[in-house]
Amino acid sequence: MNLSDTFLRTLDTPAALVDLDVVARNIARHQHACTQAGVRNRPHIKTHKSAQIARLQLAAGATGITCQKLGEAEVMAAAGIDDILISYNVAGAAKLPRLRALASRCRLTLSCDNATVADGYARAFDGRDGAPVRVLVECDTGRQRCGVSSPEAAAALAQHIAALPGLAFDGLLLYPPEGDLTPTRAFVEATRSACAAHGLALHTISSGGTPNRARIGQAGETEYRAGTYLYNDRQMLRMGAAAPEDCALHVMATVVSRPDAGRAMIDAGSKILSSDLAGFSDFGLLPDHPQARIYKLAEEHGFVDVSACAHPPQVGDVVRVLPNHVCVVSNLLDRVLALRGGQATDPIVIDARGRVA
Ligand SMILES: Cc1ncc(COP(=O)(O)O)c(C=O)c1O
Repeated sequence: MNLSDTFLRTLDTPAALVDLDVVARNIARHQHACTQAGVRNRPHIKTHKSAQIARLQLAAGATGITCQKLGEAEVMAAAGIDDILISYNVAGAAKLPRLRALASRCRLTLSCDNATVADGYARAFDGRDGAPVRVLVECDTGRQRCGVSSPEAAAALAQHIAALPGLAFDGLLLYPPEGDLTPTRAFVEATRSACAAHGLALHTISSGGTPNRARIGQAGETEYRAGTYLYNDRQMLRMGAAAPEDCALHVMATVVSRPDAGRAMIDAGSKILSSDLAGFSDFGLLPDHPQARIYKLAEEHGFVDVSACAHPPQVGDVVRVLPNHVCVVSNLLDRVLALRGGQATDPIVIDARGRVA
């Protein structure tokens, strides 16, 4: 990102700035990888939470989108996006009427890892006109988050779903840990056999994750959900899943104080960077001052140790911060500033931000 001094002087900070040329490159590269692997691309919108960006992904060849939250899916459906997967157990009676309304607006696929959630889905869709709603069984192949933990449990839940009114068992949802996918593939094949024994086919096998993009197709998946590849972040650099030139979003901050020789205070605190350390010991990377360390955040203050910098930033200077975890930054802002061809263009509206329920 080469930003002119004139541009930097016009910035109202703190703000997130997205380079749309990098976004376009990242979208095209990922679409190409999915197409080459013969796997449908169903990007996860958790990274951008913006219908505008989702449309760019769909225009490049994505066959639908993934949302983690019902509220995010509602925003995307209202914006006219018509093929949505929710990759999360949607639990609780309050959500059932919302699910039913959502299913009337788009081609909806749900997922779950337990019978209680599946029974809720059946209550939501029982007696509804139209095709049954597709449901995937979420499988844990090593991440130890949600998901049934054996092929037998996956097949048992598949049978339960298939017997419920208003639902159609459609396959599996995977989110494998980063690295070798051999165990995940073995889990899938064992589940395929166990389901086949009960006359159930795996139409969809949905896998995902940016760090595993080099292995697309290796788990036997039919579709891929990646999110972070769109903007990338410091975590993706650490994992070797992205290079600095693939990072499309930076938080722009102004140095507001230099209380002493070793410390700079910036106007980006936890309200824009979040407090997510993502396994680092500091709160973001300053690519133009690599020796600087954001060692602490208050809500509106970033505390930067600049004692090791040969040319530390001064009061009034604008600095770039590469967030540790970019998805949480999108959740904190109504819009992000945008550049195309190095020039400012219209901001991107983050219409699904804050839709946490
Ligand atoms: C269920 C699920 N699928 C896909 C993704 C996308 O992963 P990434 O952002 O690494 O591409 C996530 C990320 O949290 C996820 O939780």
